[in-house]
Amino acid sequence: MAQKISLTRYLVEQQRADGLIPGQLRLLLEVVARACKSISQAVNKGALGGVLGSAESENVQGEVQKKLDIIANEVLIEANEWGGHLAAMASEEMDSIYVVPNRYPQGEYLLLFDPLDGSSNIDVNVSIGTIFSVLKKPDDTPGVQEGDFLQAGSRQVAAGYCIYGPQTTLVLTVGNGVAMFTLDREQGSFMLTQENIQIPADTKEFAINMSNMRHWDAPVKRYIDECLAGKEGPRGKDFNMRWIASMVADVHRILMRGGIFMYPWDKREPDKAGKLRLMYEANPMSWLVEQAGGAATNGRERILDLAPAKLHERVAVVLGSKNEVERVTRYHDPL
Ligand code: AHG
Ligand code: MN
Ligand code: MN
Repeated sequence: MAQKISLTRYLVEQQRADGLIPGQLRLLLEVVARACKSISQAVNKGALGGVLGSAESENVQGEVQKKLDIIANEVLIEANEWGGHLAAMASEEMDSIYVVPNRYPQGEYLLLFDPLDGSSNIDVNVSIGTIFSVLKKPDDTPGVQEGDFLQAGSRQVAAGYCIYGPQTTLVLTVGNGVAMFTLDREQGSFMLTQENIQIPADTKEFAINMSNMRHWDAPVKRYIDECLAGKEGPRGKDFNMRWIASMVADVHRILMRGGIFMYPWDKREPDKAGKLRLMYEANPMSWLVEQAGGAATNGRERILDLAPAKLHERVAVVLGSKNEVERVTRYHDPL
């Protein structure tokens, strides 16, 4: 029987073989995984743990926070602040950066997260997740400030998510392909269940919130109209649609079987580039998708090339199967 490989062993072997994971980064990833295990535990308890429902507060983006948004945020901070691997953290649920308190040693990494993605699905028992992105603090500045976080996604040194669904699965890249680890609850460990994930270049499945159709821009409308026209239309094939409203769950499906995911700019809030946040949603997901052979753009440019101007910046997102993402991007930018 093939030997089972735990996340710890996988990280140690990556560290030895490819030098992709320095010791402090390995520690960081282990700590994030441990935090995700604890969030998974809280998610599983649901009503029994008193974790469902609203916290009756708002985050910096003006969204009502759920109890689990706050719990997951606290779990990630408490797990990560004392280990000496981080200089600071940033989260969807915190207005500004959280600098590691000076009672603990400061490390060289910056951690960004969406502690609980898919908040509208918490109370209805549908898959949700945690998304994270790791950057290195630039070493030319003393201390740590928000500006240190404002690096393009191409500078991430690790990225991933943990999906709390029928299984709890941690999906990770350190720039060497995408690996998946399923939580073995009896052992209490994440075990490697898939490596070298590849997204097929073509697909017949799209994910978009169709209720916003009347607000879309012409290129997005054109793409979806052509999909909906099916076999008789210009694409010559029928398309299927999925929209889970948890980016983690939609991206997970795309990593497993292909597809295209879009949250485009729309006319509801024309001043916002999109709904999703660049630094802790779009960047980590875009890197995972590219590492699996897919593509990710904002309709015009590669997401990983965008230079962020602020921590909670929003962005339009088109990601998944390469040929479809390239088609949507072409429609935005006719030759
Ligand atoms: P969050 O719960 O972290 O605020 O993110 C929710 C996001 C994303 O996960 C999902 O794809 C999208 O919002 C769903 O938006 P709609 O409800 O507009 O479809
Ligand atoms: Mn989110
Ligand atoms: Mn969230």
